Amino acid sequence: MKEINLTTKITVYSYEECTEIEKKLIDAAKLATSNAYAPYSHFHVGAALLLENGKIITGNNQENAAYPSGLCAERTAVFYANAQYPDQKIEALAVAAFYNGEFTNDLISPCGSCRQVLLEVESRYNSSVKILLYNKKDEVYVAESMSSLMPLSFTKTALV
Ligand code: THU
Repeated sequence: MKEINLTTKITVYSYEECTEIEKKLIDAAKLATSNAYAPYSHFHVGAALLLENGKIITGNNQENAAYPSGLCAERTAVFYANAQYPDQKIEALAVAAFYNGEFTNDLISPCGSCRQVLLEVESRYNSSVKILLYNKKDEVYVAESMSSLMPLSFTKTALV
């Protein structure tokens, strides 16, 4: 028998401690919550991506009466960025959520499907995506990559 212990480093910054571009990204994610289409959950999520060329792409959750047909904010943003700017690697992602009239007290962490998609982004561009998760206490939880949040993940290396 052997045991493997996996560790993940998360650094918690205050909003003020973030760099100017990180603040811009967080602000964009917060603003993007206002365009969410969430008539079923009323949970408005905003995602903002920083591309290599400095451009910020935002997305938000898009729900549907047929629930599984909706899409999370993170994947809406990633698929738009990849469709419009396929040559631009994605350097960072910020996520915020607005619920019951305020930003959520706890950070919102990407769901498993969004993590899988972001993992593909990291392998596609051979570059890590910094993850910034905002909460109303003005804290920003930072992980250096999506792969650090997904140990033992399934990637294209299994398909050879
Ligand atoms: N949602 C996101 O957009 N991103 C997340 O990280 C978590 C959940 C959306 C999906 C659904 O529209 C609503 O939030 C409630 O689950």
